[in-house]
Amino acid sequence: MKIIKAKDYNDLSRKAANIISAQIIMKPNCVLGLATGSTPIGTYKQLVEWYEKGDLDFSEVTTVNLDEYKGLPRENDQSYYYFMNDNLFSKVNINKNQTYLPDGMIEDSEQACREYNAVIHSLGGVDLQLLGLGHNGHIGFNEPGIAFETETHCVTLSERTIKANMRFFVSEADVPRQAYTMGIKTIMSAHHILLVVSGEDKADIVKEAFFGPVTPQVPASILQLHNHVTIVADEAALSKCEEL
Ligand code: GLP
Repeated sequence: MKIIKAKDYNDLSRKAANIISAQIIMKPNCVLGLATGSTPIGTYKQLVEWYEKGDLDFSEVTTVNLDEYKGLPRENDQSYYYFMNDNLFSKVNINKNQTYLPDGMIEDSEQACREYNAVIHSLGGVDLQLLGLGHNGHIGFNEPGIAFETETHCVTLSERTIKANMRFFVSEADVPRQAYTMGIKTIMSAHHILLVVSGEDKADIVKEAFFGPVTPQVPASILQLHNHVTIVADEAALSKCEEL
């Protein structure tokens, strides 16, 4: 596990975008696993900027996102489909037919997960998986306690996650209670994992996840066992890691 210390959020975003752009340059037809949440927004912004300058070409890239709320239509501005479109897909030359997210409008959870697993398998593996980190150590929407060997599945969000995500909704009642997410097994099968984390409010979980025991109670701790993980974190997020 390689931990790259960034000065602040802007520096973190540039460093993460550099790693993603290197991946695209090295393998133009790569499969990128993408993430939502507020942390990767700066990374996407930087990628768009480099695309606009003519330094990046997304035409052959395929993307597969980690998760999607169950029950939110794509047009809802809080759906992850909307987020990805808004922050990246509509701003670069990616082929929209090569961008995948779980379909939150499929009511039958088993069917939704089966279909998404089939998509992921058909792509033949994720080259680079971008991840954020939840305050309780969740990755994607894999909440504490989830078995490490799961693939795409339907989750009931924890109270903490609902509270953390309500800032994006009109009220807490509007936050969907369930989501479809890639499982830990799927995430762990990516060739390279890039986790971005920022801010003092994440300092405790960073220490616990990357310097504590590997346990399903802290889903991100499993990343300690992956052989190619890069964590790009700002000083605030690393402030409790005396080990560094
Ligand atoms: C959501 C997403 C996660 C993300 C997490 C942290 O719950 N499903 O993929 O990593 O939030 O988000 P943020 O970066 O906004 O702290």
